[in-house]
Amino acid sequence: MIALVHQLRLEADGVVSVRLTDPDGGPLPPWRPGAHVGIELPTGLIRQYSLCGSPKDLGGYRIAVLRERRSRGGSEYVHSFLRPGQKLRIGQPRNNFPLVDADRHLFIAGGIGITPILPMINQLGRRPWRLAYCGRTSGSLAFQDELSVHNGHSELFTDGNRLSLKKLLAEPRTDTAVYACGPESLLAGVEDAMRDWPTEALHVERFAARPKPARPNHEFEVVCARSDRTLTVPADRTVLEVLQDNGIPVEGACREGICGTCQVRVLGGRPDHRDDILSEAEQQAGDRMFPCVSRCAGPRLTLDV
Ligand SMILES: Cc1cc2nc3c(=O)[nH]c(=O)nc-3n(C[C@H](O)[C@H](O)[C@H](O)COP(=O)(O)OP(=O)(O)OC[C@H]3O[C@@H](n4cnc5c(N)ncnc54)[C@H](O)[C@@H]3O)c2cc1C
Ligand code: FES
Repeated sequence: MIALVHQLRLEADGVVSVRLTDPDGGPLPPWRPGAHVGIELPTGLIRQYSLCGSPKDLGGYRIAVLRERRSRGGSEYVHSFLRPGQKLRIGQPRNNFPLVDADRHLFIAGGIGITPILPMINQLGRRPWRLAYCGRTSGSLAFQDELSVHNGHSELFTDGNRLSLKKLLAEPRTDTAVYACGPESLLAGVEDAMRDWPTEALHVERFAARPKPARPNHEFEVVCARSDRTLTVPADRTVLEVLQDNGIPVEGACREGICGTCQVRVLGGRPDHRDDILSEAEQQAGDRMFPCVSRCAGPRLTLDV
């Protein structure tokens, strides 16, 4: 789908928001809080951005992009070259971070990690929720004006007033869904502080792949049930590469196990999950996998492709 860059706005130090519309003025596909879209930049790079406007406004999508200091080009392009009037190819909204029903919600956002959380708190409105929003300085925290509407629900933390995750998450609760998005150091701290909580309480969205130790790979077979073909995945290739090389239609974008574009259903065999999307319980279920990074724990996998 093609989208028009309608407007760019500086939202905080190093954060710019972009409003994308349909070039013919029509409605864009619907989405729910937590969703993101893949955006193909004119340089050919595809990057994912959480939708941070209102799901009721299908006249446009709002995304907000942080300028990454160690950019491979995506955020750098948005900040330095993207201008109103440009057209971009974007994907359908995809949601790996849906808002679940709970008596109470606790949101923990680090910097640009506020983007998927903003539509969630707007949807919850007056229901019981709290937001701990952290950044180095107050000037780096985007959308403070929009958050101030929800008086008393949010607290801002900066280097001069640091958030204590141990204190915030000291008491495990069965009535609270915790949503966290932000840099790896924050997410690792949340996971650590919630070791005694029910596992299903925590919902995390990662914007970058978690650093992982290298694991040995072995060769295995993939049975493509719908295409009626059996392919061999060598130790040095990914399942996605082998599927695509053999004309099996599976899309890929990040190729790092963080965006969800390549998801396939598993019909047989035990996947060796290496993504940063599925929770432990979802990995145990073993009914879907991300073939850009995940492999097979045994000799054969059967996929619905
Ligand atoms: C579901 C989802 C939603 C997202 N939503 C947002 C959003 O709302 N706003 C936003 O600003 N960003 C968001 N992102 C991140 C975004 O897609 C881009 O990754 C980001 O803009 C940086 O792109 P880049 O090309 O500038 O930097 P990249 O080069 O992609 O670098 C990004 C980070 O990864 C590290 N890195 C660099 N090279 C590698 C490598 N080879 N392997 C692993 N890590 C590396 C860098 O140190 C840097 O910190 C989201 C990502 C996902 C998956
Ligand atoms: S391509 Fe992004 S998760 Fe596989």
